[in-house]
Amino acid sequence: MLLGTQRITEEGVLEVGGCSTTELAEEFGTPLYVLDEACLRETCRRYHQAFTSRYPRVHISFSSKVFTTMAVCRIVEEEGLGVDVSSGGELVTALEAGVSPSRIVMHGSNKSRQEIEMAVSHRVGRVGLDYLEEIATLQKIAAAHQTQVDVLIRVAPGVAADTHTHIQTGKADTKFGLALADGSAKQAASEALKAPNLRLRGINCHIGSQILDVTPFVETARVMVDFASQVRDELGYTIEELDLGGGLGVRYSSDDRPPSVDEFAEAVTGAVTQTCKAYNMPLPRLLQEPGRSLIGEAGLTLYRIGVIKEVSGVRTYVSVDGGMSDNPRPALYGAHYSAIVANKAAQPLRQTITVAGKHCESDTLIPELEVPQVAVGDILAVQTTGAYNYSMASNYNRFQRPAVVLVREGRADVIVARESIEDLVRLDRIPERLRATEPRKAS
Ligand code: LLP
Repeated sequence: MLLGTQRITEEGVLEVGGCSTTELAEEFGTPLYVLDEACLRETCRRYHQAFTSRYPRVHISFSSKVFTTMAVCRIVEEEGLGVDVSSGGELVTALEAGVSPSRIVMHGSNKSRQEIEMAVSHRVGRVGLDYLEEIATLQKIAAAHQTQVDVLIRVAPGVAADTHTHIQTGKADTKFGLALADGSAKQAASEALKAPNLRLRGINCHIGSQILDVTPFVETARVMVDFASQVRDELGYTIEELDLGGGLGVRYSSDDRPPSVDEFAEAVTGAVTQTCKAYNMPLPRLLQEPGRSLIGEAGLTLYRIGVIKEVSGVRTYVSVDGGMSDNPRPALYGAHYSAIVANKAAQPLRQTITVAGKHCESDTLIPELEVPQVAVGDILAVQTTGAYNYSMASNYNRFQRPAVVLVREGRADVIVARESIEDLVRLDRIPERLRATEPRKAS
């Protein structure tokens, strides 16, 4: 499987964005996150085209949590997308990248007062209300700033999408948003309408992630429009905006068959249009917040192969120089990945290996991978690591987080520097009372 601009050169080396992956590994070190700019831009355009060609008013927003960096925010803004954030840190990243505040949507299921203050003082375009008490808090802060805040109400539509349970976010039993069943979503709409400094613009939801079938999206669109019609009938307010979140899946291996962006757009816009017609509602402005499907396939992680250990009659463990600190998804969600031995990309597949990380854990990145004969020093390129890899990386075992390199037409630019050894102890402090004691001498 080759994704985006990936191709295999005549020398049998994997190339991406016109750059040889082995040269990237040499120049920038490993592990290394590589981001294919053309692939990302192309997907932004495809999203835009797929929705605007089918629906009158659409706003596509990049869900920044998937790959929160300033350069990525800049690229998506250049492509005409907005940015959604779900914390003060993500908000600062988008603002520092120069994203216009009016194009930012601030979500968050337990926003701190400080985060709400930040959103209001920077005048972000929309604030998503996630719980009832937040309405009064936001109203107070907006009044103190003598401003009006445009809000969306996060609805839990009660749809269980077929994906890993940890990433189902729209079920009835969820911490996210306001439930339909017990009337809290309607109560929130009623309270937001009464709040003098809040302007209710619409409703939003997000049912989950890595969803490989359009059915739950269609069901969600219907449930949300049905709720909007209740708000109109009972509260006399017709929503202007419908934000259906993200959730479309990507290809982690050639067996994954996610719907295309066109199929997805066709299904969603069709369901919204038909349901609005059935309820005699004007078509709301439609907001989509793709994360994974916008950038997942544009990412690649390069590792260098270290120890190769054959457990006789069992399996061959091939250890790479990263692991769950740069990609916690296999451990968290049982996520699967595919990979190519970058310097032997044209060689016949000869062995099945288990790709292990180098952490003090059973840190398996890929349980079974067909590869050519591998050797110490080979470069392994794990594909589809553009979503929730860099952004979920940690310093476990005090590993330094890898650099991120943006590649395009033969150019490679560092967009996040590799952490240094000094960074690892930079925030540590030894309290005075521990300083006073001399380290014990070894006897
Ligand atoms: N909008 C909202 C309100 C969200 O909560 C999310 C993701 C998105 C949009 C983007 O969803 P996407 O298009 O990426 O599916 N860390 C997990 C995924 C968590 C998803 C959280 N919400 C993983 O690595 O699979």
